[in-house]
Amino acid sequence: MQTILVINSKGGSGKTTVATNLASYYAHNDYATALMDYDPQGSSIQWLKLRPPAQKPIHGANAARQKGGQLRSWQMKVPANTTRLVIDAPAGVDNLMLQEMVRAADRIVIPVAPSAIDIHATADFIKDLFLVGKVRANRTQVAVIANRVRNGVPVYAPLEKFLNSLKIPFVTVLTDSAHYVHAAGEGLGVFEMDSNEVMLEQAELMPLLSWLEPSVFTPGRVSTNTSVIDCRNRFNTSLIA
Ligand SMILES: Nc1ncnc2c1ncn2[C@@H]1O[C@H](COP(=O)(O)OP(=O)(O)OP(=O)(O)O)[C@@H](O)[C@H]1O
Ligand SMILES: [Mg+2]
Repeated sequence: MQTILVINSKGGSGKTTVATNLASYYAHNDYATALMDYDPQGSSIQWLKLRPPAQKPIHGANAARQKGGQLRSWQMKVPANTTRLVIDAPAGVDNLMLQEMVRAADRIVIPVAPSAIDIHATADFIKDLFLVGKVRANRTQVAVIANRVRNGVPVYAPLEKFLNSLKIPFVTVLTDSAHYVHAAGEGLGVFEMDSNEVMLEQAELMPLLSWLEPSVFTPGRVSTNTSVIDCRNRFNTSLIA
């Protein structure tokens, strides 16, 4: 089983959007997929409830701390045949929960929104993440993606410099698009929508999938990037710039 943790302590950076789109991509491509929600808000579990029955199934696992000290272990169980587990983390995780999630993860994806406040908070979060032994020992691969990118050049340069110093790749840029919002409201991911309408959204997720699944994607077809500018240039810049 490959476990992907989508995390950023900063609220609203796109964790649930990325987690649900990854889970739907895997399910749509016939992986036995589970989506684990650590967030008491339960956004991923809500998304699963909206999922049309005709779509490929995704097992939902609730890992949020229960009120009144109820055991959550049985709710966290995923079917034994699961091949892809996507974990949606809450904002503002404490150290204990961070350790628990990182222990389970093979790869960590950090979405970051393009504001100075988000970037600053994300840099602080990455420092905390690298205090977790497993990450520090390089046993978990970490990548950052920019999310909700709109007009104007966002203030990425300081974050990029910081990521480069830690050798963390910036793998893709996701545009601010109503299609992600629409998909979220329907219990779908963009790979389950009409490709003609969501070509850009599907294309911009490919470098992330390629980074997650290097053995599946042909080398050279999509490459991972360390520069946001490179990422932006690969897409229709008129939509992103
Ligand atoms: N690329 C995008 N384009 C447009 N809207 C987006 C995009 N990414 C996220 N959103 C919207 O922004 C809001 C926050 O996104 P999301 O819930 O994925 O963030 P989060 O990090 O999971 O938040 P929280 O910290 O509260 O769990 C949602 O309404 C979502 O639909
Ligand atoms: Mg969320």
